[in-house]
Amino acid sequence: MTKADWQNYFDQKAATHGASVKSSDYYDEASFFMQRDNILHWLGGLSGAVILDAGCGVGAFSEPLVAANTVHGVDFSAKSLEYAAARGLETQVGDLAALPFAAGFFDLVVCIGVIQLIDDHLPVLRELARVTKPGGTLLVQTLHRGSLQRKLLALFEKGHKFDKMYAMDALAADFAACGFGTLEFLKLYHPFSFVTTGGAGELGDFLCTSFALKGRKRRD
Ligand SMILES: C[S@@+](CC[C@H](N)C(=O)[O-])C[C@H]1O[C@@H](n2cnc3c(N)ncnc32)[C@H](O)[C@@H]1O
Repeated sequence: MTKADWQNYFDQKAATHGASVKSSDYYDEASFFMQRDNILHWLGGLSGAVILDAGCGVGAFSEPLVAANTVHGVDFSAKSLEYAAARGLETQVGDLAALPFAAGFFDLVVCIGVIQLIDDHLPVLRELARVTKPGGTLLVQTLHRGSLQRKLLALFEKGHKFDKMYAMDALAADFAACGFGTLEFLKLYHPFSFVTTGGAGELGDFLCTSFALKGRKRRD
């Protein structure tokens, strides 16, 4: 789908489902809360931080961060942003490839479930890197190409709406090229929580259906 198709798609979703996580295409609420709670726990407590939720949709992911931090949300779906603003995010309609912020503005940038929708993710990743301050954190969550389950589902999927996925090592290389070090992965799978909590050992790489990668922006 083109960028305009996706924009229209998420505007329609928000018009239909309102503030629900269904507007952001989560499989169900349990899957959403598993991902959000584990990722936020993994990030650790945050207070007084300036945060960007890049592609925030209806703002459900970063809502828990609003009380103790300043959270900006950018998305090209104006309809979704109405709900994100109601959740307390400072919202701006925009494209992630050209963010309306100065370099190094954010302590933390999160981009959840977005890069699988973007044909060329590198300009977006560079832009997210630009607005992250030296020493700050970038966290990207996306679909895992190496997942056994996704490979099996792809055999039966007709629409191929979500056929862009990422290999963990390739995205790590992109992070490094954008100036990030101290890279860490969180492997995610619902309902098999043992994958997320690390109990799957070496098999975790084959089982996890999505993953989050975080890194710290180098100061040099
Ligand atoms: C699957 S939803 C995820 C929303 C939110 N991050 C969450 O996890 O609840 C993807 C979001 O990315 C937005 N998006 C996709 N590509 C974008 C782009 N190039 N610029 C701005 N927003 C974009 C869509 O409008 C949509 O709201």
